[in-house]
Amino acid sequence: MKILVTGGLGYIGSHTVVELQQSGYEVIIVDNLSNSRIEVLENIEKISGVKPNYENFDLSEANLCADFFRRNADIEGIIHFAAYKAVGESVEKPLEYYKNNIGSLLNIMENMRSFKIENLVFSSSCTVYGQPDELPVTERAPIKEALSPYGYTKQVAEVMISDFIYAHPANSIALRYFNPIGAHKTALIGELPLGVPNNLMPFITQTAIGIREQLSVFGDDYNTPDGTAIRDYIHVVDLAKAHVIAVERMMNKKQKAAFEIFNIGTGNGYSVLEVIQSFEKTSKRKLNYKIVARREGDVEQVWADTNFANNELGWKAEKGLDEMTLSAWNWQLSLK
Ligand code: UFG
Repeated sequence: MKILVTGGLGYIGSHTVVELQQSGYEVIIVDNLSNSRIEVLENIEKISGVKPNYENFDLSEANLCADFFRRNADIEGIIHFAAYKAVGESVEKPLEYYKNNIGSLLNIMENMRSFKIENLVFSSSCTVYGQPDELPVTERAPIKEALSPYGYTKQVAEVMISDFIYAHPANSIALRYFNPIGAHKTALIGELPLGVPNNLMPFITQTAIGIREQLSVFGDDYNTPDGTAIRDYIHVVDLAKAHVIAVERMMNKKQKAAFEIFNIGTGNGYSVLEVIQSFEKTSKRKLNYKIVARREGDVEQVWADTNFANNELGWKAEKGLDEMTLSAWNWQLSLK
């Protein structure tokens, strides 16, 4: 069974490709390397023993996209990761975000219609909730006004998919990711931020190895037990496995509705200081950090109610925080 993985050389994409291959799927990757490196392809092959098919083009280019699907009309399912994902950058470059994140999805759905491809897994984000009124947050929580063009693209994308599924014979599952961290146990694939990392975990590991001088902890005056912000960190391999289960659910016609949405987190919230403590314990390194002002646009605390995903998908995150921080460190150590 042939599955298209867009953004399959990226952080979550590459881990998902490996899990799909290990579950017997044939994978074709489309990735324009805008935030990934071509070496990832070989490293996927080192893990799985199979080099996935790969094409390099921009999915927001309608002609290139249509041409690709004409040549690959036997694709049975699509996992659509390819998108920009930096909140701050999206404020500076909104049009790039709309073109890439919305344009690519539109082109993909047009080709799903043309070539009768019925199954789409979409990368959504807990960012659609903003700061929820109730924690843990369930899938039924209201969608609040987006705080950035990035966040808005994820909200709009879910609506676009919902409208498409209503009008056409197709199925979709949107997975709302919480905070993926960590890396594959082989340390052959992991998060590869280009430039200065925005996210906490790569900033921690790069600081510990000496690439960055000091981690800034954004705010210790939040209304949380230690004052730092709380997130639901999930091991990227647990997250990758949820995609395989979502694909299987669609292929086996197990969906209860043509469009389903699931929170993909662990259900546990950890503060920034707790992540640092875990990292210091597992890496046996002291981290140089200081408390600075809050980062604009950050929510105070969010973690997932995972009951729906646990019960309906039969999926549960298995790896704890220490395993996440240790695997992230092993990955950092493996980078030259
Ligand atoms: N943090 C620091 N210092 C850093 C980086 C992050 O203290 O150098 C803190 C943040 O303030 C936050 C926590 O670590 O409290 C996690 O921050 P990340 O940047 O790693 O992740 P976010 O929770 O901001 O990002 C998540 C998703 C994004 C999504 C975003 C929307 O990973 O995809 O929520 O707010 F866009």
